[in-house]
This record gives sequence, C-alpha cells and structure tokens, in this order.
Amino acid sequence: MALVIAIDGPAAAGKGTLSRRIAEEYGFHHLDTGLTYRATAKALLDARLPLDDEEVAEKTAREVELAGLDRSVLSAHEIGEAASKIAVMPAVRRALVEAQRAFSRKEPGTVLDGRDIGTVVCPDAAVKLYVTASPEVRARRRYDEIVAGGGSADYDAIFEDVKRRDERDMGRTDSPLRPAEDAHLLDTSEMSIEAAFQAAKMLIDAALKEN
Ligand code: DC
Repeated sequence: MALVIAIDGPAAAGKGTLSRRIAEEYGFHHLDTGLTYRATAKALLDARLPLDDEEVAEKTAREVELAGLDRSVLSAHEIGEAASKIAVMPAVRRALVEAQRAFSRKEPGTVLDGRDIGTVVCPDAAVKLYVTASPEVRARRRYDEIVAGGGSADYDAIFEDVKRRDERDMGRTDSPLRPAEDAHLLDTSEMSIEAAFQAAKMLIDAALKEN
C-alpha cells in the first residue's frame, strides 16, 4: 500500500517548499491540493461563470486535471480569493477530495499538502504534520518573496490578507483548517526552511520506523 505523508497548515506557512523537499527526499509523488481549488477557481473565472453557484462549481471541479497543475499560472491574488470562496462548498470539496484520494494511492508513496489532508482526505496517513508560523512571520515571508521576485508589495495589506484567509479557512463549516489529533505540530516561526526540513525528516523517519 502507498505510504501517505499529510501536511496541513495555514497559508504561507512554508508547506509548499517543505512538501516538495520531503517528496524529493523519499522519492514520493507530491500534490499541492490548494492548486486543485485554484484550478477550479481559474476555470470559473476564465469562463466568466458565477462563483456562487455550487452546481456549476462542482461540475468545473470534476473537470480539473491533476497532472500539470502549476502554481506559477495559478498564483494570482484574485484566483486565491476565488478559490477560498468555492472551498466552502461541500459539493466542490467532495469532488476534489475524491481526486486527491485517488492521487494519494500512487506507489510507492505520496505527499499531499493542504488544509484537511490529515483530518478528511487521508485520515489514515502514515505521518501527519501540521506546519504553522505566526501571522506576522507568514506575512513577512510572503512580502519578501514578492520583493525578491522584483514586485512591489505592501506589508500591512499582506498581513490583513493572511489574517482574513485564516479566518475563512478555520471558520468554514465543512472541513475547517485544524490539526488532526494525531498530527505532529511544527511551528516554523523561528526556523529556516532547512531547519524545518530537518525537523520534519526526523518526525517522518521516526513515524515510518513504527509502520
Ligand atoms: O494553499 P492555497 O492558498 O493555494 O489554497 C487556496 C485555497 O484553497 C485556500 O483558501 C484554502 C483552500 N484549500 C482548502 O480548502 N483545502 C485544501 N486541502 C487546500 C486548499
């Protein structure tokens, strides 16, 4: 059976970079599940379809292809906003969770990152990590990322955005963001990405030994 590593946490906590490094280290397939919500949102926006029609959004979600999802074409702010709106719809979540579960069964193993992997998508995952950092640190990292990429950014606006996104992700009724009971908490506020990776690797190696 494929081994699953579930990585959850709020926006901009460093899950993406960490998940990719972990997948590389163990030779596992990686799925950034946020991209499935973003791809659905982009398809709706591109087709000028409404963002508040659950049936239309579900149909669109069922047409999303997991292969070839690319964050660089899905990173726009308005796509993120639209994604967090459709992510509250149970029918959309059901459709995307089905596709995510199918992906999780790929051999020899998979790393899935998102908000509800350990709680809903893969509750039987071999290892669950809940990666977090303070809202200030997460806003600062996002700010630095934009500036390093040559863009201009407003820290206060990003900070407000991070807090708003947290409220939406944690406050929704269906599959809210929260750590699974058996998740290992990893607060990366004071850690470099390398230190976070080493800490995650120790937790994963220990958990895999018990399996
Ligand atoms: O991680 P991200 O910013 O790309 O996620 C986009 C939106 O999708 C975000 O508002 C949270 C939502 N999402 C979710 O509800 N469940 C997941 N497993 C992943 C993302």
